[in-house]
Amino acid sequence: MTAPERALRVGVMGATGVAGHQALLALVNHPWFELTAVAGGRESVGRLLRERLADQGAAGGALLQRLPVALADLRLIAADALPLDELDLVFSMLPTGAARDLEARCAQVLPVLSTAAAYRMEPDTPLMIPGVNVDHAELLATQSKARGWKGFVAPGPNCTTIGLAVTLAPLQAAFGVTSATLTSMQALSGAGRAATELVDAITDNILVHIPGEEQKVEQEAGKILGAPRKGAIVPADFPVSATCTRVAVSHGHTLCVSVGLGNPATPDAVIAAWRAADPFSGRPLPSAPQHWIEVRDEPDRPQPRLDRDAGGGMTTVVGRVRPDAVSGGIKYVVLSHNAVLGAAGGAVLLAEDLVDRGVIGS
Ligand SMILES: NC(=O)c1ccc[n+]([C@@H]2O[C@H](COP(=O)([O-])OP(=O)(O)OC[C@H]3O[C@@H](n4cnc5c(N)ncnc54)[C@H](OP(=O)(O)O)[C@@H]3O)[C@@H](O)[C@H]2O)c1
Repeated sequence: MTAPERALRVGVMGATGVAGHQALLALVNHPWFELTAVAGGRESVGRLLRERLADQGAAGGALLQRLPVALADLRLIAADALPLDELDLVFSMLPTGAARDLEARCAQVLPVLSTAAAYRMEPDTPLMIPGVNVDHAELLATQSKARGWKGFVAPGPNCTTIGLAVTLAPLQAAFGVTSATLTSMQALSGAGRAATELVDAITDNILVHIPGEEQKVEQEAGKILGAPRKGAIVPADFPVSATCTRVAVSHGHTLCVSVGLGNPATPDAVIAAWRAADPFSGRPLPSAPQHWIEVRDEPDRPQPRLDRDAGGGMTTVVGRVRPDAVSGGIKYVVLSHNAVLGAAGGAVLLAEDLVDRGVIGS
């Protein structure tokens, strides 16, 4: 493993949102990264981080208790005022609309790791999940060259795509995948702070439409599991069909997935492929969980409240693995923490992986 020679100075844009909170937690006492600048939006600029968090209810208060004084005393600045010449790396937890220009500004000189959708499907941009497809990083040089940037934007996937892609990758490698059909039951926090507006609508209810979500999952999975070729990604050639719903769960997205396989495999063989998945073997990156995929044998797991914090929210938990009579493959339930592995934790782990590969900080 290649640790950087000195701590890399890091700024976070969107530090006061749902994903931003998780980014702060992931960066507290980080052995490789030193958080030196925090940026927020209209409600935050000019305030101390501790003042803003104190306004943000129980979640802000709990986070504040875990921050060192020096970090809590940072003053929130505007995202377009980040001091790029004093930073080595930027994490962007911005809404997609704001992300496009603000991330481009940073990428002119620095690497940007993003949770926003702005660049995910750009042909010159890899859509990477650490532990799944960081070999796509070769495309970052294409992106930088095409756009005249010294840095790059490396976006992570939608928070629903992540559980799907993490579990499909070992199946694709071992058996081949011919189709994937899923229904999601997504947590409120996946909607960011706007989730507070959904509380009434979701009480005693399920919201059966999340605008734009199904298309994102269907497109992103193919790109992530595709192959880099001649400066672009050739998507994986199996169809993905998604139905995305929002349920009254605070954190953790649960998916019921049916997968068609290229070569027949029993549930035991599928479970063995997942249990063997150890993408950071010999490279104990600081944020990598001990278990990348945890398979539960109990018939009533995974469940969001019981399993979303596995591996500090970085472990993907699977269960209910059984044959699927329709596709002829298998079906299962998968749970991942949307705001940790699915957002900020995944972005920090991706940054560590890119440091280890010499793409960042060398
Ligand atoms: N929530 C999840 O589970 C999740 C998972 C994966 C990906 N994502 C993606 O991550 C990004 C952040 O999501 P979130 O859920 O954390 O959103 P959020 O809770 O709404 O937070 C948005 C953050 O961006 C800041 N902001 C808003 N408008 C801005 C602007 N025009 N310029 C600069 N800063 C601005 C806000 O600052 P103020 O506090 O000052 O308003 C806040 O810090 C989104 O692109 C989302 O799609 C989220």
